Amino acid sequence: MQVKQFAALGAGVIGSGWVSRALAHGLDVTAWDPAPGAEAALRANVANAWPALERVGLAKGASPDRLRVVATVEECVADADFIQESAPERVELKLALHERVSRAAKPEAIIGSSMSGLLPSKFYASAVHPERCIVGHPFNPVYLLPLVEVLGGERTSGETIDAAMSFYASIGMRPLKVRKEVPGFVADRLLEA
Ligand SMILES: NC(=O)c1ccc[n+]([C@@H]2O[C@H](COP(=O)([O-])OP(=O)(O)OC[C@H]3O[C@@H](n4cnc5c(N)ncnc54)[C@H](O)[C@@H]3O)[C@@H](O)[C@H]2O)c1
Repeated sequence: MQVKQFAALGAGVIGSGWVSRALAHGLDVTAWDPAPGAEAALRANVANAWPALERVGLAKGASPDRLRVVATVEECVADADFIQESAPERVELKLALHERVSRAAKPEAIIGSSMSGLLPSKFYASAVHPERCIVGHPFNPVYLLPLVEVLGGERTSGETIDAAMSFYASIGMRPLKVRKEVPGFVADRLLEA
C-alpha cells in the first residue's frame, strides 16, 4: 500500500502531532476540525514542532506548505489513502463521525482512530467498510514519540492491520500489534499500574 495523502480529523493535541509527523515524512496532508480558529492553532502547532522535526531529519520534499485545512469531513477524506481520526473521546461522536467518514472515503483507504479507552468494534459499528478500520493509539507528542499500538475490531481484516503497521513504520513509528480488544490496550495499562 502506498500512502501519498494523509487525512487528519480533529486537530487538537494528538491530531496536530499526527499532522506534523506526516508532513515531516513528506506526505500531502488534509485536515478538518470544527472548532473556531482550528486552522490557526494547527498551523501554530506544526510551526512549533518543525524545529525538532528538522533536527530528527525531514524527508525529501517535506514542508508545512503541504498541509491543506478544509471545511468538511468529506473534502478531508475524499482523496486520502490513510485517515487518522483524533476527535474527542465520546462513543456517540466517533460512531457518527466514522459512518460519515467511511461513506466519503475511497473504498481502499485505511481508517484509523487515535482513541484510548473505547472499543473499536463499538465505534466502528456503523462504518461502511469495517474491515478497513483500525485503531492506531499514539503517545504525546505524536511527532516525536514512536510507539503506536495497533488493533482491530471484530470485523477488521488481518491484511488491514498489517498494512496499517507498515504505514506507521514508514512514518518513523514502532507499531505494536495488540491482539485483544481491551480498553486502555497495553501501554496505558502499564503506565496506570
Ligand atoms: N492526549 C493524549 O495524550 C492522547 C494520547 C493518545 C490518544 N489520545 C486520543 O486522541 C483523541 C484526541 O485527543 P486529544 O488529546 O487530541 O483531544 P483534544 O481535545 O486536544 O482535540 C480534539 C479535537 O477534536 C476536535 N473535534 C471536536 N468535535 C469533532 C468532531 N466531531 N470531529 C472531529 N474533530 C472534532 C476539537 O475541536 C479538538 O480540536 C482522543 O480519542 C484521545 O483519547 C489522546
